[in-house]
Amino acid sequence: MRTQVGIVGGGPAGLLLARLLGLAGIEAIVLERRTPEYLRARIRAGLLEQGTVDLLNEIGVGARLNRERLIHDGVELAFDGQRRRIDLKALSGKSVTIYGQAEIQNDLMDAHEAAGTPIVYEAEDVSLHGLTGETPHLRYRKGGKQHDITCDFIAGCDGFHGVSREAIPPDVLRVYEKVYPFGWLGILSETPPVNHELIYNNHERGFALCTMRSLTRSRYYLQVSAEEDAAHWSDDRFWTELKGRLPPDVAAGLVTGPSIEKSVAPLRSFVAEPMRHGRLFLAGDAAHIVPPTGAKGLNLAAADVRFLAEALVAHYKTGNAQLLDGYSARCLARVWKAQRFSWWMTSLTHRFPDASPFERRAQAAELAYITSSKAGQTTLAENYVGLPFA
Ligand code: FAD
Ligand code: DHB
Repeated sequence: MRTQVGIVGGGPAGLLLARLLGLAGIEAIVLERRTPEYLRARIRAGLLEQGTVDLLNEIGVGARLNRERLIHDGVELAFDGQRRRIDLKALSGKSVTIYGQAEIQNDLMDAHEAAGTPIVYEAEDVSLHGLTGETPHLRYRKGGKQHDITCDFIAGCDGFHGVSREAIPPDVLRVYEKVYPFGWLGILSETPPVNHELIYNNHERGFALCTMRSLTRSRYYLQVSAEEDAAHWSDDRFWTELKGRLPPDVAAGLVTGPSIEKSVAPLRSFVAEPMRHGRLFLAGDAAHIVPPTGAKGLNLAAADVRFLAEALVAHYKTGNAQLLDGYSARCLARVWKAQRFSWWMTSLTHRFPDASPFERRAQAAELAYITSSKAGQTTLAENYVGLPFA
């Protein structure tokens, strides 16, 4: 088999790229190890920057998004029993969108089904070969048979635990990493959100985030130890702990109910450089992970893919390789700014088990400064809504 671009991974990055290439008349095949049912049900991110919404609209998958999304013009920080609203719209001119990653995944899969994009689900033992030659190829197994696809280029969109990044020799790849001493326990419940905008809570019992998927579906997260097992958290235990971390007026309005999903995610900052090796290009979580505070993971994946599609289209339409050559540097410039912001938001809002009394006082002062100064609020707002595309 032969194709122009072989895409490893059918998450948001892989499917967005396949759609952008398909619309430009470039052939692509997606290899995904999971089943379509698994992907359609996978619950993850929920907050989109305007740039991500624009991209989804540009590729014609924004109809349901535009109907169902919630638009938020502000966000709250709560600490020391106080609530402080940051007026994102007034400070940055932009708003953010609430629309679940699971919905985007479904919209993209529907669009690909309609367009007839070749997507191989349950592709086993995917491996990458000949990356520095002229004809890189992908191998995989499906239904007991071995398959081989020769490509012009390979896009590694297979997430943090994928095989693409591992295919880059260790002496070429530089890795930057920070692991946090806590994780997030998240639940989803069919209950109205406690507030019409998100609330990031810094509390002595630990961080808590109040977010949502719709006007009838809430998502809440609690800072827990990195080794915490979600099975040890009954719904009652979760709701009681959440109430304990919210300002009293917010806690009083919390509507509880059975959880639909409950899981723990570790917090990590990670960047692999460069994002290109020969004819392999990494995009999304395959190249970088941010801690979820600030909601940059999915938005960064969309930005990478926008750059990669532009570069591949330029190559095929004009033969100009300049954008392909500049891909890694262009992505990394944006990635590092989002890394810095996600690390900073995490540092500002979480309780660090090993923080000294001095560090704790400095954190409290920073919260007070950021929320009371227009300059402080503006720096949070312009990063939160998404930095402009370079
Ligand atoms: P992924 O979504 O990871 O997609 C990669 C795809 O590749 C998957 O479908 C996977 O099955 C497939 N794959 C992996 N290995 C192989 C292989 N060997 N062969 C073939 N296919 C393979 N971000 C936020 O902004 N807010 C959040 O609240 C949030 N919560 C998260 C919770 C969890 C548990 C996780 C894991 C991530 C969360 N994120 C969150 C991050 C966000 O979901 C990711 O940044 C986003 O999914 C990145 O998209 P991606 O396509 O790059 O990677
Ligand atoms: C969501 C997750 C985040 O990490 C965040 O900062 C904002 C929203 C969410 O799941 O809705």
